[in-house]
Amino acid sequence: MAEDRSERVSWSEKRETRSPPSTFDRDTTRTGVDPRERFDREWPDCWADAAALLEWTEPYDELLDDDDAPFYRWFVGGRLNAAENCIDRHLEAGRKTQVALRWEGKRDEQRTYTYHDLHREVTAVAAGLRELGVEENDVVTLYLPTLPELPITMLACARIGALHNVVFAGFAPDALLERMSGTDSSALVTCDGAFRDGVAIDQKRKADAAMAELESTIPTIVVDRLGPANETQLGPDQYAYDELVDRFDGADVPPVPRNATDPLFHIHTSGTTGEPQRMTHATGGYLAGTAWTSRTVFDLSPGDTYWCTADLGWVTGHSYVVYGPLARGATVVLAEGSLRYPDRHRPWEIIERNGVEVFYTTPGVIRTFMKWGESFPAAHDRSSLRLLGTVGEPIGPDTWEWYYTHVGDERCPIVDTWWQTETGAVMLSTLPGVDEMKPGAVGPPLPGIDARVVDEDGRELPPGEPGYLTITKPWPSMLSPLESDRYWVLAEYWQQFSDRRADTWRYFTGDRAVVDEDGYVTIIGRADDVVTVGNRRLGTAELEAAITAVDGVTEAAAVAGSTGGDTDLYVFATIEQDRTDRDGLRGAITDAIVSRIGRFAEPAAVVFTPELPETHSGKTMYRVLETIVDDERLEDSEPLRNPEIVGELESLWTTE
Ligand code: WT7
Repeated sequence: MAEDRSERVSWSEKRETRSPPSTFDRDTTRTGVDPRERFDREWPDCWADAAALLEWTEPYDELLDDDDAPFYRWFVGGRLNAAENCIDRHLEAGRKTQVALRWEGKRDEQRTYTYHDLHREVTAVAAGLRELGVEENDVVTLYLPTLPELPITMLACARIGALHNVVFAGFAPDALLERMSGTDSSALVTCDGAFRDGVAIDQKRKADAAMAELESTIPTIVVDRLGPANETQLGPDQYAYDELVDRFDGADVPPVPRNATDPLFHIHTSGTTGEPQRMTHATGGYLAGTAWTSRTVFDLSPGDTYWCTADLGWVTGHSYVVYGPLARGATVVLAEGSLRYPDRHRPWEIIERNGVEVFYTTPGVIRTFMKWGESFPAAHDRSSLRLLGTVGEPIGPDTWEWYYTHVGDERCPIVDTWWQTETGAVMLSTLPGVDEMKPGAVGPPLPGIDARVVDEDGRELPPGEPGYLTITKPWPSMLSPLESDRYWVLAEYWQQFSDRRADTWRYFTGDRAVVDEDGYVTIIGRADDVVTVGNRRLGTAELEAAITAVDGVTEAAAVAGSTGGDTDLYVFATIEQDRTDRDGLRGAITDAIVSRIGRFAEPAAVVFTPELPETHSGKTMYRVLETIVDDERLEDSEPLRNPEIVGELESLWTTE
């Protein structure tokens, strides 16, 4: 396979320590007291600090209700509105003319929204949604790419107390349908299409296809992104976004106060079942957690310019494009389309043109920048940058060094932030400008977060011994236990370890990790059957269901691997004995994944094997396949039912 492999992060390696650059002086956490010590001492009252960053319509009377543990409720009795916290209060604080959103579209296209503009449009959309029958607690599915209309509709939902359910625009109609009907959505917001690499691509046809299968009929709002050159026909119960905004321009829609424990949104993530898992975040705890980490980890204060490359279809876009940064009153940069169009200068031009101070991206994106070469960032003024962040998968020491040197000029601390859809906000990270950094290790838990690495029996492991990453104390932005039909999923997460020790509960993250003598955590990878491809978490069960639906395929396993610097998806499959049309089957498998999941999940290779490596209990040994994909040596100790298949797979892999 490809020669230029990206480095693998070895957990057993000793990490080097780097002192934070002394030039970083905008630190909001340096108060003279060690925040971790203080949060430990004052836990859980310490989390009042996070709540204090918000404006409450009604103050809470109980910080943490643990009566029904582990279904904790935060800031009970408190009332607030998330959109008011992200917009209205900034107007009152004299920031009307400050830029809230700066959108970078295709070539030479920019749009700017001040906090005043944002208020106006969000209010108009909120009025429009109400006109279409959306009420408090209803769910609105948003199926939009990176357009300003996406954060605007999210905030419009929040304003009227409706829940948004953002579905990644790259998902296929089937995936949209499942996420729309599973949440009993009352309306859909989509667009005619989008531009990718300068080419107009269709979005509405996918939305229409899903809609045709939906049992009930619901109104659709359509954003016109492609302009008059691409006329779209609106069907019955379809409304033009611009017309709604014009019609309700200047409408008065006061923000609806929500209980802190009321849900703010749904988002789907992948788990070990074939179905996408619906997550719900609660208004108060989530907003407090994202605002607090935006301040503490990303050092965001009002007026700071910030760019996070994440798609809004994933939790990172929710927490660190919309809610956290806007609650802090920052100026948020959004970029449509890919970072290589019109050319590889684009990311650095965006940073230069907007004076981006804090930049947050993924190791995959950084590896792409590395591949392109340092001449691209070097050609641009990056002096505005003062802090860099990374998320989504382990960043290897070499990638870290490249980011530190060629993007941050050794002036900007790097925060390697570990968190998940379920945790809502960053859980593990160094504090910028305060903590030493260790390339390859994410860092210690944030103040107030109690993370432990444990063995199969839930016993804490000493430094250096790999095990399961667990969180042993509740935190404000934890996934909401509000819906009774979700309890079993929560119970599954939480009881994985707790049921063996009745005196304690632990939240099981699904990750394997190791902690060092200084309390710095290195993430080894997922322990469950979930793969991360292009920083998107996909359930192997969901992928494999799509693959085995192909006629002739008997068994399948999907794994992620790094070749050529990007994380790709690889499929291993067994087929019926009389099937000889391997190329045809390969094509059918790829088509099945593209049409059921989306093009972003297209596999880099499909390997046919006589058997999949299995444990004695018949479970696919993903770790064996991952090792093969990464061209690594297998430890002899892997307990396989069919060890002879390993050699065969290795030779199949090299001839692939
Ligand atoms: C999984 C969560 C949270 C936003 C992005 C993905 C992996 C996340 C890191 C990191 C190593 C990381 C973990 C985690 N992950 N951040 N800094 N270093 N691994 O959200 O889809 O819920 O996935 O992403 O495996 O469990 P998600």
